Amino acid sequence: MEIDFLETRKIGFIGAGNMCHALVSGFVKKAGFKPENLFISAPSNRNLGRFAEMGCMVTNCNEDLLPGNKFSCTVIFLCVKPSVAKKCSKTNPFLVYNGNEPLIIISVLAGVTLKKLYQVICDRSFNEDLKMGKIYIYRIMPNTACSVGKGICGICHCLLGDTFDESVKSLLSMISYCEFVTEEQLNAIAGVGGSGIAFVYTFIQAMADGAVKMGLQRHIALNFAIQTFLGAALMAEQSSKHLIELRDEVCSPSGTTIHGIHALERNAVSSGIIDAVESATKRAEEFGRDQI
Ligand SMILES: NC(=O)c1ccc[n+]([C@@H]2O[C@H](COP(=O)([O-])OP(=O)(O)OC[C@H]3O[C@@H](n4cnc5c(N)ncnc54)[C@H](OP(=O)(O)O)[C@@H]3O)[C@@H](O)[C@H]2O)c1
Repeated sequence: MEIDFLETRKIGFIGAGNMCHALVSGFVKKAGFKPENLFISAPSNRNLGRFAEMGCMVTNCNEDLLPGNKFSCTVIFLCVKPSVAKKCSKTNPFLVYNGNEPLIIISVLAGVTLKKLYQVICDRSFNEDLKMGKIYIYRIMPNTACSVGKGICGICHCLLGDTFDESVKSLLSMISYCEFVTEEQLNAIAGVGGSGIAFVYTFIQAMADGAVKMGLQRHIALNFAIQTFLGAALMAEQSSKHLIELRDEVCSPSGTTIHGIHALERNAVSSGIIDAVESATKRAEEFGRDQI
């Protein structure tokens, strides 16, 4: 079954922090959603102002977003910290849904498993009975580049089957490159993409620092470093050649580039990057273990 989200339009967000802002900005600025059809909920008004300014509807009550309630959303993104979901219990429910209308929940919480999410959201364990239920929970691992429509997004399949897989993927494809992966693989997506975006910032910054050291003004150095990254990424995306082949094409014998590549290898940059992705992936795995 497919849902045309541009048609149904009502999308909710629980948690109004950085990830929510990236998703909402992407949907409004890059996917053409009307802000008045996006509904954001958080306990305080600390972060809600920027969404209200964008024209979105805001509330301090999570239940307002549920089907049949005030804003009646078809799909709700869960954008709180894992610790918030972890401490949820009967005395502190942040979302308990017992309605009959289908509800798609898309969780961005790092490490919180689908089974745990069913406990938190439905206030009961996932079991076969829920197959009769109407809550379709998806876990995703996005990054903040969704805000400019160039994010990445690992999605893992809903425990209730693939009814809404295509709809969820087509929604997220409006702001990111998406692939379905297993729940375990979602941790590696956190490493390469969720956290990886910060590794790329570090690399760009270092390239710019190098150019400043060699005499360029900071803003010029930074722009050249950014554009070099954008160009290289586009070449990598659009060329049928292997990355090593693309690299070799730039390395003339005894030229500048092979000297630079040697300097990178001497400083074990490739190894450092592999370590960074591995460390971030393992940290995401730890989040998962911590909450069981
Ligand atoms: N940031 C990233 O790059 C990134 C990437 C991938 C995944 N994620 C995941 O995204 C999630 C959110 O991260 P973030 O960086 O956006 O966090 P954040 O900036 O700290 O925002 C958390 C939001 O949750 C709200 N909140 C707290 N308790 C709540 C409750 N009971 N009901 C509803 N809302 C509640 C907070 O409300 P107030 O505004 O009132 O404080 C705040 O708006 C995390 O689970 C993280 O694993 C983040």
